[in-house]
Amino acid sequence: MRLGVNVDHVATIREARGGLEPDPVTAAHIAELAGAETIVCHLREDRRHINDRDVRLLRETIKTRLDLEMAATEEIIAIALDIIPDLVTLVPERRKELTTEAGLDIIGNRKSLQTTISRFHKKDIAVSLFLDPVEEYIRLARDIDADFIEIHTGEFANARTFEEAEEHLAGIRTAAELARSLDLGVNAGHGLNYSNIKPIIEIPQIEEVSIGHAIVSRAIFTGFERAVREMTELLHRFSLRDNETVTED
Ligand code: PXP
Repeated sequence: MRLGVNVDHVATIREARGGLEPDPVTAAHIAELAGAETIVCHLREDRRHINDRDVRLLRETIKTRLDLEMAATEEIIAIALDIIPDLVTLVPERRKELTTEAGLDIIGNRKSLQTTISRFHKKDIAVSLFLDPVEEYIRLARDIDADFIEIHTGEFANARTFEEAEEHLAGIRTAAELARSLDLGVNAGHGLNYSNIKPIIEIPQIEEVSIGHAIVSRAIFTGFERAVREMTELLHRFSLRDNETVTED
Protein backbone atom coordinates (compact mmCIF):
# COMPACT_ATOMS: atom_id res chain seq x y z
CA MET A 1 0.00 0.00 0.00
CA ARG A 2 1.25 3.47 -0.92
CA LEU A 3 1.15 6.55 1.24
CA GLY A 4 -0.22 9.77 -0.20
CA VAL A 5 0.66 12.73 2.00
CA ASN A 6 -1.75 15.63 1.89
CA VAL A 7 0.10 18.92 2.51
CA ASP A 8 -2.96 21.21 2.76
CA HIS A 9 -2.54 21.89 6.45
CA VAL A 10 1.03 23.04 6.07
CA ALA A 11 -0.51 25.75 3.91
CA THR A 12 -3.22 26.31 6.53
CA ILE A 13 -0.51 27.31 9.01
CA ARG A 14 1.12 29.58 6.42
CA GLU A 15 -2.19 31.26 5.70
CA ALA A 16 -2.71 31.95 9.42
CA ARG A 17 -0.16 34.74 8.91
CA GLY A 18 -0.49 35.22 5.18
CA GLY A 19 3.27 34.93 4.64
CA LEU A 20 5.62 32.42 3.06
CA GLU A 21 6.12 29.80 5.74
CA PRO A 22 5.79 26.99 6.35
CA ASP A 23 5.89 26.13 2.65
CA PRO A 24 3.80 23.10 1.59
CA VAL A 25 6.20 22.56 -1.30
CA THR A 26 9.10 22.04 1.12
CA ALA A 27 6.87 19.70 3.14
CA ALA A 28 6.18 17.69 -0.02
CA HIS A 29 9.88 17.28 -0.72
CA ILE A 30 10.52 16.10 2.83
CA ALA A 31 7.55 13.72 2.61
CA GLU A 32 9.07 12.19 -0.52
CA LEU A 33 12.39 11.68 1.25
CA ALA A 34 10.51 9.93 4.06
CA GLY A 35 8.76 7.47 1.75
CA ALA A 36 5.59 9.17 0.50
CA GLU A 37 4.74 7.91 -2.97
CA THR A 38 2.11 10.51 -3.77
CA ILE A 39 1.70 14.15 -2.80
CA VAL A 40 -1.89 15.26 -2.41
CA CYS A 41 -3.27 18.78 -2.25
CA HIS A 42 -6.73 20.29 -2.50
CA LEU A 43 -7.02 23.50 -4.49
CA ARG A 44 -10.21 24.94 -3.04
CA GLU A 45 -12.34 27.54 -4.71
CA ASP A 46 -11.76 29.89 -1.74
CA ARG A 47 -7.97 29.17 -1.68
CA ARG A 48 -8.11 28.82 2.10
CA HIS A 49 -4.86 26.85 2.17
CA ILE A 50 -3.28 25.60 -1.07
CA ASN A 51 -3.01 28.27 -3.78
CA ASP A 52 -2.28 28.29 -7.49
CA ARG A 53 1.45 28.87 -6.96
CA ASP A 54 1.66 25.80 -4.70
CA VAL A 55 0.03 23.52 -7.26
CA ARG A 56 2.26 24.81 -10.04
CA LEU A 57 5.45 24.40 -7.98
CA LEU A 58 4.41 20.97 -6.73
CA ARG A 59 3.83 19.88 -10.31
CA GLU A 60 7.21 21.20 -11.37
CA THR A 61 9.30 19.93 -8.48
CA ILE A 62 7.99 16.74 -6.89
CA LYS A 63 9.48 13.49 -8.06
CA THR A 64 6.62 11.19 -7.11
CA ARG A 65 2.98 11.56 -8.17
CA LEU A 66 0.67 14.55 -7.79
CA ASP A 67 -2.92 13.86 -6.80
CA LEU A 68 -4.96 17.06 -7.13
CA GLU A 69 -8.12 17.04 -5.07
CA MET A 70 -10.69 19.40 -6.48
CA ALA A 71 -14.33 20.23 -6.96
CA ALA A 72 -15.53 19.85 -10.55
CA THR A 73 -15.95 23.59 -11.16
CA GLU A 74 -14.97 25.23 -14.43
CA GLU A 75 -12.21 27.39 -12.92
CA ILE A 76 -10.44 24.50 -11.17
CA ILE A 77 -10.94 22.11 -14.09
CA ALA A 78 -9.16 24.62 -16.35
CA ILE A 79 -6.23 24.83 -13.91
CA ALA A 80 -6.01 21.03 -13.66
CA LEU A 81 -6.08 20.60 -17.44
CA ASP A 82 -3.20 23.04 -17.65
CA ILE A 83 -1.12 21.60 -14.77
CA ILE A 84 -1.73 17.91 -15.68
CA PRO A 85 -1.62 16.13 -12.31
CA ASP A 86 -1.03 12.37 -12.32
CA LEU A 87 -4.42 11.89 -10.71
CA VAL A 88 -7.39 14.15 -10.16
CA THR A 89 -9.63 13.29 -7.20
CA LEU A 90 -13.04 14.87 -7.54
CA VAL A 91 -14.60 15.84 -4.23
CA PRO A 92 -17.69 17.80 -3.19
CA GLU A 93 -16.92 21.24 -1.79
CA ARG A 94 -18.94 23.57 0.39
CA ARG A 95 -17.61 26.97 1.39
CA LYS A 96 -18.65 26.75 5.02
CA GLU A 97 -17.31 23.26 5.71
CA LEU A 98 -14.19 22.81 7.84
CA THR A 99 -13.12 19.90 5.68
CA THR A 100 -14.67 17.62 3.05
CA GLU A 101 -17.67 16.15 4.84
CA ALA A 102 -18.92 13.34 2.62
CA GLY A 103 -18.44 11.60 -0.68
CA LEU A 104 -19.71 12.96 -4.00
CA ASP A 105 -23.38 12.96 -4.90
CA ILE A 106 -22.66 10.75 -7.87
CA ILE A 107 -26.33 10.08 -8.57
CA GLY A 108 -27.34 13.75 -8.75
CA ASN A 109 -24.21 14.76 -10.69
CA ARG A 110 -23.83 11.72 -12.91
CA LYS A 111 -23.96 13.56 -16.25
CA SER A 112 -21.64 16.43 -15.33
CA LEU A 113 -19.16 14.05 -13.67
CA GLN A 114 -19.11 11.88 -16.77
CA THR A 115 -18.37 14.93 -18.93
CA THR A 116 -15.61 16.07 -16.56
CA ILE A 117 -14.02 12.61 -16.54
CA SER A 118 -13.95 12.47 -20.31
CA ARG A 119 -12.35 15.94 -20.48
CA PHE A 120 -9.54 14.70 -18.21
CA HIS A 121 -9.17 11.47 -20.14
CA LYS A 122 -8.60 13.46 -23.34
CA LYS A 123 -5.45 14.76 -21.63
CA ASP A 124 -4.55 11.30 -20.27
CA ILE A 125 -5.26 12.35 -16.69
CA ALA A 126 -6.63 9.56 -14.50
CA VAL A 127 -9.68 10.41 -12.40
CA SER A 128 -10.68 9.22 -8.95
CA LEU A 129 -14.08 9.86 -7.36
CA PHE A 130 -14.33 10.40 -3.60
CA LEU A 131 -17.27 8.21 -2.61
CA ASP A 132 -19.03 6.92 0.45
CA PRO A 133 -18.76 3.10 0.51
CA VAL A 134 -22.13 2.42 -1.14
CA GLU A 135 -22.53 -0.31 -3.75
CA GLU A 136 -24.70 1.76 -6.09
CA TYR A 137 -22.18 4.62 -6.13
CA ILE A 138 -19.32 2.30 -6.97
CA ARG A 139 -21.19 0.68 -9.85
CA LEU A 140 -22.05 4.14 -11.15
CA ALA A 141 -18.38 5.18 -10.93
CA ARG A 142 -17.59 2.28 -13.24
CA ASP A 143 -20.44 3.24 -15.58
CA ILE A 144 -19.20 6.82 -15.98
CA ASP A 145 -15.65 5.65 -16.65
CA ALA A 146 -13.80 6.67 -13.47
CA ASP A 147 -10.37 5.06 -13.08
CA PHE A 148 -10.26 5.02 -9.28
CA ILE A 149 -12.51 5.54 -6.35
CA GLU A 150 -11.31 6.98 -3.07
CA ILE A 151 -13.38 5.47 -0.30
CA HIS A 152 -14.44 8.05 2.27
CA THR A 153 -13.20 6.73 5.61
CA GLY A 154 -14.44 9.69 7.67
CA GLU A 155 -17.43 7.88 9.20
CA PHE A 156 -15.18 5.00 10.25
CA ALA A 157 -12.64 7.43 11.71
CA ASN A 158 -15.33 9.29 13.66
CA ALA A 159 -16.98 6.15 15.06
CA ARG A 160 -17.56 6.41 18.80
CA THR A 161 -17.67 2.73 19.65
CA PHE A 162 -15.84 -0.39 18.56
CA GLU A 163 -19.07 -1.83 17.14
CA GLU A 164 -19.75 1.29 15.12
CA ALA A 165 -16.19 1.26 13.75
CA GLU A 166 -16.54 -2.44 12.84
CA GLU A 167 -19.77 -1.72 11.00
CA HIS A 168 -18.14 1.04 8.92
CA LEU A 169 -15.11 -1.18 8.31
CA ALA A 170 -17.30 -3.95 6.96
CA GLY A 171 -18.81 -1.45 4.52
CA ILE A 172 -15.35 -0.25 3.47
CA ARG A 173 -14.17 -3.84 2.91
CA THR A 174 -17.19 -4.69 0.78
CA ALA A 175 -16.81 -1.48 -1.22
CA ALA A 176 -13.11 -2.14 -1.83
CA GLU A 177 -13.79 -5.70 -3.01
CA LEU A 178 -16.58 -4.58 -5.32
CA ALA A 179 -14.50 -1.77 -6.81
CA ARG A 180 -11.58 -4.10 -7.52
CA SER A 181 -13.89 -6.66 -9.09
CA LEU A 182 -15.10 -3.89 -11.43
CA ASP A 183 -11.50 -3.07 -12.30
CA LEU A 184 -11.47 0.24 -10.49
CA GLY A 185 -8.37 1.31 -8.58
CA VAL A 186 -9.06 1.79 -4.87
CA ASN A 187 -7.75 4.56 -2.65
CA ALA A 188 -9.03 5.54 0.78
CA GLY A 189 -8.84 8.58 2.98
CA HIS A 190 -10.18 11.06 5.46
CA GLY A 191 -9.66 11.05 9.19
CA LEU A 192 -7.04 8.30 9.07
CA ASN A 193 -4.37 8.47 11.75
CA TYR A 194 -1.67 6.44 13.50
CA SER A 195 -4.19 4.70 15.76
CA ASN A 196 -6.96 3.79 13.34
CA ILE A 197 -4.99 2.96 10.18
CA LYS A 198 -4.23 -0.73 10.86
CA PRO A 199 -7.53 -2.30 9.73
CA ILE A 200 -7.55 -0.07 6.65
CA ILE A 201 -4.03 -1.16 5.71
CA GLU A 202 -5.16 -4.78 6.07
CA ILE A 203 -7.70 -4.42 3.25
CA PRO A 204 -5.68 -5.80 0.34
CA GLN A 205 -7.68 -4.08 -2.41
CA ILE A 206 -6.76 -0.60 -1.18
CA GLU A 207 -3.75 0.65 -3.12
CA GLU A 208 -3.18 4.00 -1.48
CA VAL A 209 -4.23 5.99 1.58
CA SER A 210 -4.38 9.77 1.56
CA ILE A 211 -3.47 11.28 4.92
CA GLY A 212 -3.07 14.90 5.89
CA HIS A 213 -4.20 16.21 9.25
CA ALA A 214 -2.74 13.44 11.41
CA ILE A 215 0.69 13.70 9.79
CA VAL A 216 0.85 17.49 9.98
CA SER A 217 -0.32 17.36 13.61
CA ARG A 218 2.38 14.88 14.59
CA ALA A 219 4.99 16.77 12.59
CA ILE A 220 4.58 19.79 14.87
CA PHE A 221 6.10 17.72 17.67
CA THR A 222 8.35 15.27 15.86
CA GLY A 223 9.31 17.01 12.61
CA PHE A 224 7.77 16.33 9.21
CA GLU A 225 10.18 13.65 8.05
CA ARG A 226 9.72 11.54 11.16
CA ALA A 227 5.94 11.93 11.09
CA VAL A 228 5.79 10.66 7.51
CA ARG A 229 8.30 7.89 8.17
CA GLU A 230 6.31 6.60 11.13
CA MET A 231 3.26 6.32 8.90
CA THR A 232 5.14 4.57 6.07
CA GLU A 233 6.50 2.13 8.64
CA LEU A 234 2.95 1.27 9.74
CA LEU A 235 1.98 0.74 6.12
CA HIS A 236 4.88 -1.65 5.58
CA ARG A 237 4.25 -3.50 8.82
CA PHE A 238 0.55 -4.13 8.34
CA SER A 239 0.18 -4.49 4.57
CA LEU A 240 -1.08 -7.91 3.57
CA ARG A 241 -0.39 -9.63 0.35
CA ASP A 242 -3.47 -10.74 -1.59
CA ASN A 243 -3.32 -14.35 -0.36
CA GLU A 244 -2.67 -13.56 3.32
CA THR A 245 -5.33 -13.43 6.00
CA VAL A 246 -5.55 -11.37 9.16
CA THR A 247 -4.44 -13.10 12.36
CA GLU A 248 -4.88 -11.65 15.81
CA ASP A 249 -1.71 -10.33 17.52
N1 PXP B 1 -9.11 12.47 1.03
C1 PXP B 1 -9.94 13.49 0.72
C2 PXP B 1 -10.80 13.35 -0.48
C3 PXP B 1 -9.96 14.68 1.48
O1 PXP B 1 -10.79 15.68 1.15
C4 PXP B 1 -9.08 14.79 2.58
C5 PXP B 1 -9.05 16.07 3.37
O2 PXP B 1 -8.46 17.06 2.61
C6 PXP B 1 -8.23 13.71 2.86
C7 PXP B 1 -8.28 12.56 2.10
C8 PXP B 1 -7.27 13.74 4.00
O3 PXP B 1 -7.99 13.80 5.19
P1 PXP B 1 -7.23 14.04 6.57
O4 PXP B 1 -6.67 15.43 6.51
O5 PXP B 1 -8.30 13.87 7.58
O6 PXP B 1 -6.15 13.02 6.64
